[in-house]
Parts: sequence; structure tokens; C-alpha cells
Amino acid sequence: MYYPDELVEEVRQRSDIVDVISSYVRLTRRGSNYFGLCPFHNEKTGSFSVTPSKQMFYCFGCHEGGNVISFIQKYENATFQEAVKILADRAGMALPESTDATARERENRRAQLLAINKEAAKYYYAQLRSDSGKRGMEYLIGRGLSDETMQRFGLGFARSTRDETYRYLKSKGYPDDLLRESGLFSFREDRGMTDKFWNRVIFPIMDVGQRVIGFGGRVMGDGEPKYLNSPETPIFDKSRNLYGLNIAKSSKAKNIIICEGYMDVISLHQAGFDQAVASLGTAFTSGHANLIARYAKVNVRQGEIQRYKDILLCYDSDGAGVDAAKRALSILSEAGLRAKVIDMRPYKDPDEFIKGLGAEEFQKRIDDAENGFMYEIRMLEGEYDMKDPSGKSSFITDVATRLLRFEDPVERDNYVGLVSYKYDVSAESVNEVIKKQALAGTGVTIKPRPISTRNGKNDMIEAASLPQTRLLSWLCDEPAIYKVVNRYITADDFADPLYREVAAILFEQLEKGHCDPADIISVFPEEEQQRRIAEAFHQSIGDLESLAMKEMALRDLMINIKQLSLTRNDRSDSDFGYIIKIRGELEELKRVKIDLQDIDRSTAFSQKEE
Ligand code: UTP
Ligand code: MN
Repeated sequence: MYYPDELVEEVRQRSDIVDVISSYVRLTRRGSNYFGLCPFHNEKTGSFSVTPSKQMFYCFGCHEGGNVISFIQKYENATFQEAVKILADRAGMALPESTDATARERENRRAQLLAINKEAAKYYYAQLRSDSGKRGMEYLIGRGLSDETMQRFGLGFARSTRDETYRYLKSKGYPDDLLRESGLFSFREDRGMTDKFWNRVIFPIMDVGQRVIGFGGRVMGDGEPKYLNSPETPIFDKSRNLYGLNIAKSSKAKNIIICEGYMDVISLHQAGFDQAVASLGTAFTSGHANLIARYAKVNVRQGEIQRYKDILLCYDSDGAGVDAAKRALSILSEAGLRAKVIDMRPYKDPDEFIKGLGAEEFQKRIDDAENGFMYEIRMLEGEYDMKDPSGKSSFITDVATRLLRFEDPVERDNYVGLVSYKYDVSAESVNEVIKKQALAGTGVTIKPRPISTRNGKNDMIEAASLPQTRLLSWLCDEPAIYKVVNRYITADDFADPLYREVAAILFEQLEKGHCDPADIISVFPEEEQQRRIAEAFHQSIGDLESLAMKEMALRDLMINIKQLSLTRNDRSDSDFGYIIKIRGELEELKRVKIDLQDIDRSTAFSQKEE
């Protein structure tokens, strides 16, 4: 649909940018501008600004910017026309039907192509259930598919004919030029139109609106090519569609699973995993990532920090699958999405896995999915001689370069902690290499120091004591937050031994409904200890103007404390259970929305809920 410029302009003028963006992002006024958390990249502090006088938005963090229409295009993953429509609806404006003849003609052709595909899908579907479709039916039953599953995916069969499908569609009145454009037929001067799909089981490919946009056909048994697919057509853009998303988009699952093939999706759905989609052998694209971003979004309520369902990659476990997974991870990451990787070994793909080990085991693999970044660097390990100190050091440099991709310091710190733990290098060393990499090419150099092991140094705890003391101090200033803090943090999470003891006593006090820091100090006889505790209790938590900033700050503090507790070197290195537990708690903290609104200030203290 084409809209004339004057109309677009009118829509824009009737859509105040602050008004529109406020329904997606919580904005706070600062001077003549508004600020909030950028919806286009992950951040903890609001660098996203909206300027009413200019009717523009701009993010100082990711440099995304534009007007109200580009905001909607980007946020809703919409085309320009769709965005105009959304805004017009919002403003209660009626838009005219297209007046532009070529645009109307294009729309018309698309509608016709969709009709042809729908007709063809019905035809293949009927053949599968007819006598001549017996071989196809046997093949699909042999692959363990139930009738219900075949129906849900609209599976069909194309029998061995030269041009029967063509003649059928022709009899329905579709002209040759459209039939040729549909991609369902081959055309040669000498032979005319022939059916492209024959003697194959047919997988219709649907878009999220349940419209058939293309087909895949599989040989029954061995044969080349194994799958034949519709070419790209005006209605089939392979890089913007995911097989199965028409069903997965309404799944109640807490994650979305991306796999490679038709049969993977179908088997997973049949086993109860209706959140599976496939990129169908074609490389994963940013278009796919945008689709995922759109449908994996949860809780897009006003002011809520953007959250996504877990995005799980379930690619083949062979070399090509690993490469594809690595590529997909980086494309997702460019779109600001974090993914995890499901380990299918010893099976090749989810279809075979389900057949071999069943749905329950698959659920376990989902639960155990590896963080995408840790997967990526585990794969990287193979490229270095880890037994050789210089090999390991090159490896750490390589990892550091990859860590630079994380703009969010809290997130990066979490990974620094994990890398430090897993590869036994001090977090300080990792950070130093990161800094060096970040400065590479700027002319600034830092004195190289040998990479130290985690157990070699203790001073990173000193440097990182700030979050610990801040939380202690905050708890004394505002005991009501204990109710929230105690859901996530125990005294044991404090990495510094002194603060750990202080926290234990303070938490005990808060548990009993009082708070007396002076009393805590008196428990410690040494002057130096008393000095440090007093200092701790006098940390400022900074100027937190709004409740939202407070909530974010508290979450960051708790994340920092958890992350730090991962580096506690008084734990035995073999204490993996502990690491896994903390990692889980970290992940959770990163997902939760801290809510300080409801804490009841009159009854500042609560009993621990079990
Ligand atoms: P695979 O070769 O892994 O096949 O290709 P598969 O999904 O396990 O299929 P089954 O179980 O043998 O039936 C993965 C995906 O790559 C695309 C298809 O979408 C397939 O599902 N592909 C593969 C093609 O498009 N053409 C081919 O010739 C092969
Ligand atoms: Mn397979």
C-alpha cells in the first residue's frame, strides 16, 4: 500500500513522539528532553532520549535514532507502510485504499500467488490421503508422525506426474505468467510447464498469518536433492520467515527453539515442544533475528525493562551445524539477543534425539543449554594449544576481544567472572587484556603483565568491594528493601570475609525486625575492622531520582555481588555445584524486574518466606 507524502506527514503530525514512545518505554523528563532505557540495545542506564521540540529520538548508547515512524518500524519490525498504518490507527485516522495503480497491481499479484499456493497445498494434502498417495503416507507414518501432526502441518504428497498439478491449477483459471511466478513449475521452451514437485512428500511453508508462501518436498528414502524447495518469489522471502512460527508464536513455553529442518520442527511439536521453529537449511539472517526478537518478547508493558524468552539453538551436532550455530549466535547478538545452545549429542538432530531418548530427556537438554558465549569460546578452545602457556595466553586474548562486544559492563563482568573461573585466570588479568584490546590502535599502551591465575591474586576483591559496601549501607538506610534483597542474596554471597560476617549479623537483625549498625561494629574488636565497617555503612548509594533508577541500581548491585561471589577463591575449584547454582541465580537476577513499589514502608521488616 502506497500513501501520498501529505498523508504521511499528517499521520506524523498527529502522532506526538513523546506520547507514542511513552506507550513502549518509560520516559522521565529531564530539562526539555525525556530519557529512558533504550529498547534497541541492552542497557542499565537511560541513554535513550526523546526531544519533543524536534519530534525525534536518539540513543547515545547505540546511536539509533529517527522520528516517530522510524521508531515504530524498528520497534514493531514493521515496514514503512505498516508503521504509518499503526500510527494512523492509533490517531484514529482512516487511511484510503491505495490509489497508486502499480502498487495496487502488485498487491493483487501477491494475493493471486497466495491463492495459487493455497490451492496447491489443498491439492497435495488431498493426494496424500488418496490411493495414489499411499507411498507418501507410509513414508510419513514410518517416520513416526501421527495423523494429527500431519494435519497440523498440512503435509501433503506430490505423485509422479509430468504436469498434473499444473493442469489442475490452470483449470482453476490462473494464467500462465502467474503460475510461472509461483515457483511451483519448471518452464522450458521445448517441454512447456512441468511440475517441479513430483514423487515427494510435501511440507507447506506458512507465514505467521497462516498463509502458504512456499513448499518443501522430500524424497522418500535416498535421492538427490533430499529436499527441494520453492524458490524465492514475491511472497516467499526466505530470510524473513521461519518454519513453524505460525504455531510457535502462540506457544506458552518460556523459550523458543531454533533448529535446522522441517522434520526437526515437526518431531519437536509432536513431542510437545510447540515452541520450535526452523531456518530451513538457509543461513540464519538478521531478518530471522528480527522475527525472533518480535515473537520472543515478553511483558512489553509500559516502563517494563525489555525481556525475552530464552532463545535456544538446536542445530545439528556435526561440524556444519556447529558453524551454523556460531554464525547464528553472532547474528542474534548483533540484534541484541542472547541465545543458548542445546547439546544434542550423541544424536545428529532433534528429530533423531526425540526418537532415541524421548521428550523428557530433551527437556533436560533444554534445561542444560549452554550460554551462547561460553559455547562459542569452548569451540574456540580447540584452536589453541591450551597446555602451552603462550597458547593459552593467545586464547585469552582472543576471548577478551570477543568480550569487548558486550557494551553493558555488568554483563561483561559476569562473563569475565565465568571465564576467570573456567580457565583459571584472574579476572584482573582478563580485564587487563580487554582494556589492551580496547585500546588497540589508539596509540595508548598499557604495560603488559604476565597473566596471573585466579588464586594468585586477591586484590580484585578490594577493588570490587564497592557493591558489597553499598548494599550493606543501603540496607541500613532503608531496611524495607531487605524484603526484596533477601529473595536473592544471602550473607554467603559476600565475597569479602569481613563483609560476609557483617552481612550475616545484619541479615539476622533485619530478620528479627531491627537494624543497629553500631551494635555490629562492637562485635569486631580490631580497629582496622571497625574502620572498614564504619566506612562500609557510610557508602552513598548515589542520587537515585526515580523509583525505576532505584530498582535498576539495586538489581545491578545484587548482580555485581553474585558475580563477585563466583570469584571467591576460598571455595574449592571442584565445587562445581556451587558455581552452577550461582550461575543460575545470576541468570535469574538478570531476568527479574525488581519491584520496590510494593514494599510496605510501615512494616519495614518481614519474616523470611519459605
Ligand atoms: P538435513 O540434511 O539435516 O536434513 O537438512 P534433516 O532435516 O535431518 O531431514 P531428514 O530428517 O533427513 O528428513 C536440514 C534442512 O536443510 C534443508 C532442509 O530444510 C532440511 O530440513 N535442506 C537439506 C534442503 O533444503 N535441501 C537439501 O537437499 C537438504
Ligand atoms: Mn533429520
